[in-house]
Amino acid sequence: MAERAQCPGSGSPDFYLHGGELHCEQVPVRELVERFGSPLYIYSAATIRERAKRVRVAFGDTARICYAVKANPNLSVLRLLHEAGCGFDLVSGGELERLAVACLPTDQAVFAGVGKQRWEIEAAVAAGLLFFNVESPYELPLLAAAGEAAGKPVAVALRLNPNVEANTHAYISTGKDENKFGVAIDRAAAVVDEIVANPWLSLVGYHVHLGSQLRAVGPYVQAFERVAAFVDGDAKRSDGVRYYDLGGGFGISYGEGDPLDVAAVAAALLPRLQERGWIPVVEPGRFIVGDAGILVTSVLGEKLQGRAKFLLVDAAMNDLMRPALYQAEHPIVPVLSRPDAEMRTVDVVGPVCETGDFLGRARSLPRCQRGDLLAVLATGAYGASMASNYNSRCRPAEVLVDGEQARLVCRRESFAQLLQREI
Ligand code: LLP
Repeated sequence: MAERAQCPGSGSPDFYLHGGELHCEQVPVRELVERFGSPLYIYSAATIRERAKRVRVAFGDTARICYAVKANPNLSVLRLLHEAGCGFDLVSGGELERLAVACLPTDQAVFAGVGKQRWEIEAAVAAGLLFFNVESPYELPLLAAAGEAAGKPVAVALRLNPNVEANTHAYISTGKDENKFGVAIDRAAAVVDEIVANPWLSLVGYHVHLGSQLRAVGPYVQAFERVAAFVDGDAKRSDGVRYYDLGGGFGISYGEGDPLDVAAVAAALLPRLQERGWIPVVEPGRFIVGDAGILVTSVLGEKLQGRAKFLLVDAAMNDLMRPALYQAEHPIVPVLSRPDAEMRTVDVVGPVCETGDFLGRARSLPRCQRGDLLAVLATGAYGASMASNYNSRCRPAEVLVDGEQARLVCRRESFAQLLQREI
């Protein structure tokens, strides 16, 4: 029997090499591309379940795990996470609509969002959530009116901005004074007063979210201490409070360094929460789906220019925006390993007319030929979900693998779909 080896750079054992060929669970990746075309997103159900379980084991049975839908909103992924015992973290009426279409319950869902519209607030209240994360004072009268119309006070958590450094990319840091999110702690007293004074609002918790791709426990503890100090400033700030929503942001490794030690975050926070009788709520997105996905792309050709060697592939920044937007580095590996092939350093670039359109720069890869397949790893989070039609490109298909089964969970976009909104 051919040997099974870990796929270098992958954070998931469900992507591995067997006979030199990349597999997702029991299925050879090459077969999936033959069936569904390229570029192609491939997700492992086993990895998604394992990650949800890891968070559950760390935070315990009473914790509410609200998967951040924005990371990967595919309906089949949402259903899988519901089956794994997760609720959802929503940030738009569109995400709420996804739960409705997938017939998923909303009673374990929370709704954040820095600029909610009236219709979104009304739809969320009508759906009935675990609680609503308030980020701005303007939401309060809209929420109270929706509560009054429904004849039931709305459960709200106040999202505080604790001004904590998350040590992450500037574009995905959210818990600093200069970021638009949450209510600054020094302005929060008046907001709590307003919530408490309104019979149609009921303060049930506090929420923070410091940013994404955090790798250290410290910021989570610091944020909690700041929230706790605020709450202790006045008895009415803790009256009726049952939940502490510590947000998401659990980092993964992207082939370098360690992922966030989620168990250590839980170990640091749970005793502090227990002391107050507060139930933990977590909103992981990337940690659950990031390592569970790859983007497979096919080599178009090679080109030498100045000192650079470009490897042209059929996936581009419209399919995976993270390298262009955040200078993110995703490991890239060949789907078929060829140990004897000459290694070279190349920039892996797509067909989009932008100099910033790269999937990876200065990567050491075996010499490739037209048609060879490459896998861009750890793209299950914020990959397909951020894909666009730039350059009038159709978005890729998505496949979910579960054991030896592979199921198309999102069709490749067609030109008809690309044009259907235009008049
Ligand atoms: N909760 C809230 C309120 C959030 O805003 C986010 C992400 C999460 C939870 C989930 O964060 P996660 O656990 O996935 O880090 N597009 C960027 C990430 C943006 C994250 C936005 N908010 C990227 O590709 O890195």
